[in-house]
Amino acid sequence: MFTAIAPRYDFLNHLLSLNVDRSWRRAAVRRLAWERTPDGTYLDLCAGTLDLAATLAREPAFGGRVVGADFVVPMLARGKGKAARARPVAADALTLPFADSRFDGAMCAFGVRNLADLDAGLREAHRVLRPGARFVVLEFTTPRFAPLRAVYMFYFRRLLPAIGRAVSKHRDAYTYLPESVLEFPDPDAFARRLSGAGFGAVGYELLTGGICALHHGTR
Ligand SMILES: C[S@@+](CC[C@H](N)C(=O)[O-])C[C@H]1O[C@@H](n2cnc3c(N)ncnc32)[C@H](O)[C@@H]1O
Repeated sequence: MFTAIAPRYDFLNHLLSLNVDRSWRRAAVRRLAWERTPDGTYLDLCAGTLDLAATLAREPAFGGRVVGADFVVPMLARGKGKAARARPVAADALTLPFADSRFDGAMCAFGVRNLADLDAGLREAHRVLRPGARFVVLEFTTPRFAPLRAVYMFYFRRLLPAIGRAVSKHRDAYTYLPESVLEFPDPDAFARRLSGAGFGAVGYELLTGGICALHHGTR
């Protein structure tokens, strides 16, 4: 599915979120606490087209490297040229080809929801982080405030799939998006899964009226 939608992926991300996804990525990078080790090595898990990796890599004071890991090479290929310090690596998040404690921080934007085994993926993220390093996760969720929820659910379940289908020409990818979000653990439940994978100091904040959750935990 991600191979098929790769050519229109970035365009649709920015269109369907009215560009708000850029501010979510900036918030994730701020949460990472990379300033403590500005020349370190960081992991962008399920990196797709490297937008999140590039957001960190383009920080003026950043002097390290960002490894963008994804198992769909056509998605990674779309990230080419976005930032010199961001390097793509074809890898499965469930069996990462990296040594224990290799990274000074890790982040994952809209990726964990797609993992075939969520807990295995979280344990892998934990394994490759050095003790004290932070893991930051962006994931969609749905607003709790009832009036906003009603409007958003109409957009999310009806308009978004129609626009996504028309632009990407893919029959199911943008139906899969709301369906997978609605099936995914809510922010409290996901925070418990982070703890279960071994992370400490787990917490989250809701962004943009509660349509996106920014999670964090520390190895
Ligand atoms: C919705 S995209 C998110 C891409 C990017 N992080 C972003 O914010 O735009 C989800 C990505 O997760 C990747 N993915 C899903 N399961 C994976 C796995 N087991 N290992 C590596 N990548 C995976 C897909 O290939 C896809 O590129």
